[in-house]
Amino acid sequence: MTCPPNRVRIVEVGPRDGLQNEKTLVPTPIKIELIDRLSATGLQAIEATSFVSQKWVPQMADATDVYTAIRKLPGVRYPVLVPNLQGYERACAAGVAEVAVFAAASEAFSHKNINASIDESIARFAPVMERARADGVAVRGYVSTVLGCPYQGDVPLADVVRVARRLHELGCYEISLGDTIGVGTPAKARAMLDAVTHVVPISALAVHFHDTRGQALANILACLERGVGVVDSSVSGVGGCPYARGASGNVASEDVIYMLHGMGIETGVDLPKLIETGQWLSAQLQRDNGSKVGKAA
Ligand code: HMG
Ligand code: MG
Repeated sequence: MTCPPNRVRIVEVGPRDGLQNEKTLVPTPIKIELIDRLSATGLQAIEATSFVSQKWVPQMADATDVYTAIRKLPGVRYPVLVPNLQGYERACAAGVAEVAVFAAASEAFSHKNINASIDESIARFAPVMERARADGVAVRGYVSTVLGCPYQGDVPLADVVRVARRLHELGCYEISLGDTIGVGTPAKARAMLDAVTHVVPISALAVHFHDTRGQALANILACLERGVGVVDSSVSGVGGCPYARGASGNVASEDVIYMLHGMGIETGVDLPKLIETGQWLSAQLQRDNGSKVGKAA
């Protein structure tokens, strides 16, 4: 067991991974206010939106309006998701400095989510990476369904390793490993991470857990003990993926940060401010707060 790091970078994915799953359209000014409120909490990375097809995800059709209106604080990164060159070009026109590409470890999920095989999706990323390199735009990579798939069931570790390695070789500075439907347990999470660290250094890995079965914090702790220093999470636990049957909320940022601060691990985030933002968002969405820490406050 490695010691957990003494500082963890939180990548807040609520405005994208969270809101993309809301059934009714969230008004653009609410999305903008959410990101501005999150920026004021000390978070260093906030995934703002996605430049995907609006036929596929109507909730993200206002990506340009959201991205151009948010207050961008110095020192805070605002990555956006792009599935292809068309998305990259829209994102660039909006002035982004960082994008994220997303592939899956499961063939079945890849088809449902982006209408392409894993290899086809990676082939689409090559020109995105080339352009991003020339433009000086940083690229993060996601691998979804690393611990299980809603359509194919088990996902072989070798497939997770292969996709993570390809994204890293393509030039993604960091690979986020996603338990998209929250089926993992700490032992599985640890084994998956160990397998991936044979091909991608731990310093270039992040973890992305959904809390569908209440395992997310335990899984994060297991990965911290292996030396992971970057955790994706979502304010008030909003989230899910519209193309992952049964995917419920992302792990709540408030709960992750409460655990980290309790372990003496720094995040730079003002937890009371974040809790207030989660409560505000829950009221805006008229839904129960998915953060236990947020509810207890
Ligand atoms: P397709 O239908 O195969 O693509 O979709 P296409 O190239 O045939 O295009 C269809 C239409 O979409 C065309 O418009 C294109 O112009 C347009 P039409 O000619 O019919 O009017 N189009 C676009 N429009 C705007 N922006 C674009 C874009 N690309 C094409 N970038 C495609 C393929 C990839 C576009 C589609 O499947 C898609 O957008 N999928 C995104 C699904 C999604 O956002 N899923 C959620 C994110 S992944 C996730 O949540 C998991 C993660 O959080 C990690 C984890 O939890 O594990 C990351
Ligand atoms: Mg996700």
